[in-house]
Amino acid sequence: MILVTGGAGFIGANFILDWLRERDEPVLNVDKLTYAGNLENLADLAGDPRYAFVQGDIADHGLIDALLAQHKPRALINFAAESHVDRSIHGPGEFIQTNIVGTFKLLESVRAYFATLDETKKAAFRFLHVSTDEVYGSLTADAPPFTEDTRYEPNSPYSASKAASDHLVRAYHHTYGLPVVTTNCSNNYGPYQFPEKLIPLVIANALAGKALPIYGDGQQIRDWLYVADHCAAIRRVLEGGAVGEVYNIGGWNEKPNLDIVHSICDLLDKLRPRTDGKPYREQITYVTDRPGHDRRYAIDASRIERELGWAPAETFATGIAKTVRWYLDHSEWIRNVQSGAYREWVEKNYAGRKQ
Ligand code: NAD
Ligand code: TYD
Repeated sequence: MILVTGGAGFIGANFILDWLRERDEPVLNVDKLTYAGNLENLADLAGDPRYAFVQGDIADHGLIDALLAQHKPRALINFAAESHVDRSIHGPGEFIQTNIVGTFKLLESVRAYFATLDETKKAAFRFLHVSTDEVYGSLTADAPPFTEDTRYEPNSPYSASKAASDHLVRAYHHTYGLPVVTTNCSNNYGPYQFPEKLIPLVIANALAGKALPIYGDGQQIRDWLYVADHCAAIRRVLEGGAVGEVYNIGGWNEKPNLDIVHSICDLLDKLRPRTDGKPYREQITYVTDRPGHDRRYAIDASRIERELGWAPAETFATGIAKTVRWYLDHSEWIRNVQSGAYREWVEKNYAGRKQ
């Protein structure tokens, strides 16, 4: 079996659902269920004997040690993290705790478990650490995309805490021989993404008749990848990735934020026109920029393509159309996650921004 941490979040939930469709191997999901963890994402697995859930913190040594000893996974995939840049600006403490201390504690538990395995099981075991392209910092307009050799220059408390976790994972390989692999992926989008991130926020706000907030001039560039393509890449890296190595994952799909918001508005105009017949683009509102906002991210994914034969299945046009349709079909999911805590966050993040 495999152990997944953070599997009740956006990418982890997509990964578990895809894994059980693609592979017939059980999954244990350990998730703390922070505001971003949502068991409703995995409701389709109710009664599936291949799936088990335990609520817990990756920093809880006793719990993780006991789960490893009991279930003896052949791999651990670490998705658990605090993941939202804006939240890391308002309160970095949780990011340091989970992304740095939590990853360290998890590595310690896995190191102790790994020592108990026989040689065959040791050779097969993998610790796959899921990380982000944001550790590489910001690119100028004409700079080449990030490769696995690009220097780490994290700029936000989020990316700095992920960078620290990547360094710890690397050190546990070099120092203790732990068979780790790290992936650094670009911005994901797709079903089950919490509506505080740009794409689901814009879809939810558009449908609710609210403003579509664009930070600064909206010309910041991200490289967008459909979440199922990220999940497929992680499966490939787990199967064929070289121990101790790093794989950048991206969709060769750089777009300015404003273009993303325009695409969503235009799709909604066709699929769910406004009752007053006006275009959704009219809801776009420019607001005060994010402090220290990285201007451009771009991933060079040639290594994973060349060495592991992975390539994204979706273009941005097909992926965003699927995503918008999914949110239109899951209005109850959106309503359920827009709890009191969500409304407090929206107030905290947007109230102080000038229009
Ligand atoms: P998310 O915020 O949607 O989900 C994170 C999950 O981790 C939640 O279910 C949460 O409850 C859980 N969690 C948080 N702290 C925990 C702890 N201490 N112990 C156990 N569980 C805990 O995040 P996501 O977008 O699904 O991202 C998953 C991973 O992928 C993260 O490591 C993130 O850095 C990385 N990543 C995300 C993106 C993206 O665009 N979303 C891109 C590249 C990499
Ligand atoms: P986000 O989804 O938070 O991902 P990240 O910061 O990890 O790239 O934001 C994506 C881009 O969209 C980023 O450049 C910030 C911008 N953005 C807005 O312009 N308005 C918003 O309300 C949000 C949440 C993000």
